[in-house]
Amino acid sequence: MTSNREHWGSRAGFILAAAGSAVGLGNIWKYPHMAGQHGGAAFTMVYLLCILVVGLPILLAELSIGRRTQLNPVGGFSLLSNNSNWKWVGFLGVASAFTILSFYSVVGGWTIKYTVLALTGSFGKFSATGAAGDFFDAFVKNPVEPVFWHLVFMGLCVFIIDRGVKAGIERWSKVLMPVLLGILVLLVFRGVTLDGAGAGLRFLFSPKWGDLDASGVVLALGHSFFTISLGMGTMITYGSYLRRESDLIQSALWIVALDTFIALMAGIAIFTAVFALGQNPAEGPGLIFVVLPSLFPHMPGGQFFAALFFFLLFVAALTSAISILEVVTAYFIDEKGWSRTRATNTFGAIIASIGVLASLSNGNYNVLSPVTDLTFMDLLDKASSKYMLPLGGMLTAVFVLTRWGVDHFRDEIKSGAKWFQLNKQVITIIFVIASLVVAYIFASELVALFR
Ligand code: PFF
Repeated sequence: MTSNREHWGSRAGFILAAAGSAVGLGNIWKYPHMAGQHGGAAFTMVYLLCILVVGLPILLAELSIGRRTQLNPVGGFSLLSNNSNWKWVGFLGVASAFTILSFYSVVGGWTIKYTVLALTGSFGKFSATGAAGDFFDAFVKNPVEPVFWHLVFMGLCVFIIDRGVKAGIERWSKVLMPVLLGILVLLVFRGVTLDGAGAGLRFLFSPKWGDLDASGVVLALGHSFFTISLGMGTMITYGSYLRRESDLIQSALWIVALDTFIALMAGIAIFTAVFALGQNPAEGPGLIFVVLPSLFPHMPGGQFFAALFFFLLFVAALTSAISILEVVTAYFIDEKGWSRTRATNTFGAIIASIGVLASLSNGNYNVLSPVTDLTFMDLLDKASSKYMLPLGGMLTAVFVLTRWGVDHFRDEIKSGAKWFQLNKQVITIIFVIASLVVAYIFASELVALFR
């Protein structure tokens, strides 16, 4: 089953694809608005700490399970545990993929709509106070337009994934990731050269610990999973297309470094503009779709930078969304013997349909309205980011400690590594700490849920 598995064409190709998965709406949409609401620099410090203490070890665990088994998450856990119940952690990953992609592609659709708006010169109308907010509100509630763009976005994902690992994911990531970096550099330059940009930089980098509350800490941890695409087997799947000679440690460091660098750059681009033009950084999820559109018209070259910004957001979302669809696709190819085309078309269509319900839930057609005020889209987002990903990540760490075994895991990361010094005890301590941190936060989330 594994001998004719497709592999990445090059080391750089793999790193760009995996970084493409990691860098997404999480970096450019979620991180800035969460930092904006939870103390700026203090939130950023906790988030960076979580990435080092929890994210990096679990990323290495996922990549090594994938490379060792050359299988999707379900097959991977199953093979390493003699077909035991651990395979359910793999199924949790596949379920998370359905859940995340269904709402992620709705936001992906919004990014296309806003790119088109900027390109057609429509941003001028957002200069009036409140106009951007009113427009966004009416747009997401519309039963047709956002659904249409969501379907376009899903269609693109299916198109790329259908082409396979090398000709689809790798080839597109190699083009799109440099584009993304280039655009971001331009936007950062625009931001820091605005009068009054310094206040934005101080907000992002000089911590005032009093501004960080407990919910900020919980969010920072959950976000460290989301942003590196952990806890649902994406990195197991991408790792399964690696050859044994590849250096897992170096790759993991690259992925985390690129992801963090891009989140911080996005933060700089956004907060310098927000502060320079006297806006509120704690606007929440609307920061990108409401505050920024109202800023661009007041900025020299604003229309141009607006188009670049939303295209950047679209590219970032697309390279992440394809990695989510690949998890489901790989499972059906490996375990059920389906062809790639059949798997991508079938599950692309199913996820797109759930996404339609998510999009409609922002307007008058929320399937959850008989039971709760929460929209179906919010439910998908919260269930995955707050519970499913942290649970999947924690179980992966526990799996390394108690089932696969630290010795086997260590052998796997050593193979191909140019430099590797950690002994069994140190790895065990790192994984125990990572598991405990996630378990604690996960438990506190559950307690909060039932209070
Ligand atoms: N890492 C992506 C982001 O930051 O937007 C989101 C994501 C992709 C989460 C893939 C999970 C995943 F498996």
